[in-house]
Amino acid sequence: MSNTDDDSLIAAALEARDKAYAPYSNYFVGCALLANGKVYVAANVENASYGLASCAERNAVMNAVLDGNRNLEAVAVATVSSPPASPCGMCLQTLNEFVDDPAKLRVIAVNPAGERQDYTLAELFPHGFRRDQLPDHG
Ligand code: THU
Repeated sequence: MSNTDDDSLIAAALEARDKAYAPYSNYFVGCALLANGKVYVAANVENASYGLASCAERNAVMNAVLDGNRNLEAVAVATVSSPPASPCGMCLQTLNEFVDDPAKLRVIAVNPAGERQDYTLAELFPHGFRRDQLPDHG
């Protein structure tokens, strides 16, 4: 992926962050996912029943999968944190479901100040559970 493509994915994540519904934590998260040439965006959505908060990354994966895309290529996550925060464990497991090789999924963490951290899913989630570990789904 070129720098320009990275830049537009990052811009989409930062823009999606403005749409977050996070009145309880006030921690706004935006996500943009690239899959088969399309970009899927989402933000975190919270609830008065706090445990129902739904992360930006998982919401973006749902958007991609519901559009028929199950092969994720890159993901940008925008938070206010410095250094930029990487996805939570539940989101890493969710991303892991939709990649053939976790080393090939690039995870770009950014913040509005322009800081950026680049990882692969394999770096953030080196020994994740995968479907081939299920006896009946190898
Ligand atoms: N959150 C995300 O959207 N993604 C993450 O990877 C970590 C946390 C959200 C959940 C909640 O709405 C807020 O951030 C504070 O935890």
